[in-house]
Amino acid sequence: EKGGYEHFMLKEIHEQPKAIKDTYRGRLLRKEAIIKMAGIEDNMKKFLNADRIIIVACGTSWHAGLVAEYIFEDLARIPVEVEYASEFRYRNPIITENDVLIAISQSGETADTLAAIKLAKSKGAFVFGVCNVVGSSIARESDAGAYTHAGPEIGVASTKAFTTQITVLTLIALRLARAKGTISSSDFRQHLLELEMIPKKVEKSLESDELIKTISNVYKDVNNFLYLGRGYNFPVALEGALKLKEISYIHAEGYPAAEMKHGPIALIDENMPIVVIATKKGHYEKVVSNIQEIKSRKGKIIGIVTEGDTQVKALADHVIEVPETLESLSPLLTTIPLQLLSYHIAVMLDKNVDQPRNLAKSVTVE
Ligand code: F6R
Repeated sequence: EKGGYEHFMLKEIHEQPKAIKDTYRGRLLRKEAIIKMAGIEDNMKKFLNADRIIIVACGTSWHAGLVAEYIFEDLARIPVEVEYASEFRYRNPIITENDVLIAISQSGETADTLAAIKLAKSKGAFVFGVCNVVGSSIARESDAGAYTHAGPEIGVASTKAFTTQITVLTLIALRLARAKGTISSSDFRQHLLELEMIPKKVEKSLESDELIKTISNVYKDVNNFLYLGRGYNFPVALEGALKLKEISYIHAEGYPAAEMKHGPIALIDENMPIVVIATKKGHYEKVVSNIQEIKSRKGKIIGIVTEGDTQVKALADHVIEVPETLESLSPLLTTIPLQLLSYHIAVMLDKNVDQPRNLAKSVTVE
């Protein structure tokens, strides 16, 4: 059942090329240059007339929501707010009939997310679900939705659900951008083309496995990790840190790279490994200067870089390459080495990777 892999998590990490492809199949029609999603087509008016989109989710799904915020605002020019479902539902939020609420949930059973959508519905908002489990409570409770086609995710630490959520949300953003006219037809086509190439590029990213094992062996005994990223890759930094915490029990924090100087920089010394997502295009020069600041404080730098990078390579202690893609799609690639890093560290520490202590696959308590 683990398909020859030692753990479900590793199997699911390796399933991502297929899971992403399964998720855009039938929806992304490159030759026709269209995106077809019944849940969006049928409710286009709601989306186009919405004052804003509110995204609610928990944990890793919330991180996918953060990536979606960047892509929706960037491409479709629709204001987006991303909320932890548990905070949203308990703070008497302002919700109107002109709001569209997108709930993201792998299991479709997360109690806080379910309660948040019930609240939004009671105020007249239109609720759209992005779930993986077919027929789950959140899927049923939503007015409309789009499934991720990740297949069953068994490992408690979410991997392929995350990248397929980003895939669905990217398709939605692109579809809305096209309908609104906020994306040119050539940009739209380029996005379709690049998205279609992502599975191959994820496969390529997975080839860094041995290198990542070596890096994991160097840092497995530290007590703290920092993860930094900017723009589209800020949520990826949060997700990388969450993965490490969950399965290796090493304390890790994700931060927007520019925030480092407002506090976390005080933590940096020769014992602190810092994972920096420094791919080309995404504020690259700024991230390079963040890396210089880390280096001058003797922090250990693990850079996630674009293939062929030289600038970060010259500064970092280790670099892990991912193929080049559009900035908006880069989270689908930069996430991969972070999943593998957390996986290998946890295995080396002899932790229960698939069932970490204190965690459950679906959190049905509030
Ligand atoms: C992280 C993880 C959790 C879930 C969160 C939401 O690896 O698994 O943080 O992402 O509990 O779960 P769903 O997406 O099922 O609502």
